[in-house]
Amino acid sequence: MSAQNKADYSFLGRTGLKVSNVCLGTNMFGISEVEPLAVFNSNPKRQNEVEAHKLLDRYIELGGNFLDTADVYGAGISQKIIGNWLKTKRRSDIIISSKVWFPMDWNTKNNIGLSRRHIINTCDETLERLQTNYIDLFQAHIWDNATPIEDTLRTFDDLVRCGKIRYYGFSNICGWQLQKIVDLSRHLNLHPCISLQQQYSLLSRESEVEAFMVCENERICVLPWSPLKGGLLTGKFKRNNIPDATGSRVGHMIARKASGESVSSDWEKFCDDEQYWNLIALMEKFAKAKGKTVAQVAIRWLLQKDIVASVIIGCSSIQQLEDNMGASSGWKLSEEEMQELDKASRTPYSYPYNMLLGTFSTSRMNRFNSSQK
Ligand SMILES: NC(=O)c1ccc[n+]([C@@H]2O[C@H](COP(=O)([O-])OP(=O)(O)OC[C@H]3O[C@@H](n4cnc5c(N)ncnc54)[C@H](OP(=O)(O)O)[C@@H]3O)[C@@H](O)[C@H]2O)c1
Repeated sequence: MSAQNKADYSFLGRTGLKVSNVCLGTNMFGISEVEPLAVFNSNPKRQNEVEAHKLLDRYIELGGNFLDTADVYGAGISQKIIGNWLKTKRRSDIIISSKVWFPMDWNTKNNIGLSRRHIINTCDETLERLQTNYIDLFQAHIWDNATPIEDTLRTFDDLVRCGKIRYYGFSNICGWQLQKIVDLSRHLNLHPCISLQQQYSLLSRESEVEAFMVCENERICVLPWSPLKGGLLTGKFKRNNIPDATGSRVGHMIARKASGESVSSDWEKFCDDEQYWNLIALMEKFAKAKGKTVAQVAIRWLLQKDIVASVIIGCSSIQQLEDNMGASSGWKLSEEEMQELDKASRTPYSYPYNMLLGTFSTSRMNRFNSSQK
């Protein structure tokens, strides 16, 4: 994307707020010895404060206004890095989303989950690290089996009412959980959940059935995370060529797994998968024809899905940031290209979705029945 080609904006669901359609994920900010989610801790590509501030500055220059963080990213360091940067900017220009659930220390008894206590404590600590007095979007990082969902929803509602958060959303949940959240908040007359942050990409479409059906019906926007499946949707990996340990996150995870750590490696899942290599070949074809990159095609495919408000990217360098932001504006995939990518990346629907999404139900579309759309 040329420097003058600024990001496009879309509404953050029903909020009336406008966010850039590409959101900058900050999971890789901060190098910490005590990363609670140890999976990324030793990744050589984590950014220190100076590098992270350069990424943030360039993102804003390219028209972005939406940052995604969480207390656990870099064990609080990601939020501190953002806070130190934010205080040099006009707060009202930036939309910040954060999350709550995971502990900063796995030995904790209570600093975990979606209890009233943990949500409020995490909110206060997040505000302190970010050096601000409100979070735009506060999200439950995952469902909590130990806390009644009514307590969680009332707490989010209280935080909205007292102005510490503007909106709340959920992440990493399934369809029945989201529908329960919607129905309960309606029944209890609480502020509604406005967004679902979910893993979503050409290699991860599981949420299209159930969770996204609820999103469509209830007008909840989707914020996809890992749009490039950690780098696997960039076209930079070649068949029969095992990525090396230091060149990429993908290679880093392969090496950790090989050394006996119990981490998952997506490379192993896809390296011998014919469908994956055919998909990459198709993306390369479209990218070449349009003068774009494979990563841009992957992000653009998400941006053209109606339920998506903003795609959360992760970048190890300014070049990757510029590349990914180039998906935001000024071009489109054609309907035919979208359909071909849909087809090349789809896993067959199982029962009952093959019936529900088939001709029986689509022959009875009624635009006056809002539950269908
Ligand atoms: N809610 C949740 O549970 C959850 C979970 C995970 C992430 N997130 C959010 O989503 C954000 C993004 O997730 P993600 O980092 O997994 O996203 P991703 O886009 O799937 O992967 C990003 C990685 O791909 C590689 N890459 C990115 N752009 C590239 C390009 N143009 N060309 C070549 N390689 C490129 C980089 O790794 P290498 O350079 O190492 O190859 C980069 O670190 C996170 O920062 C976080 O904010 C949320």
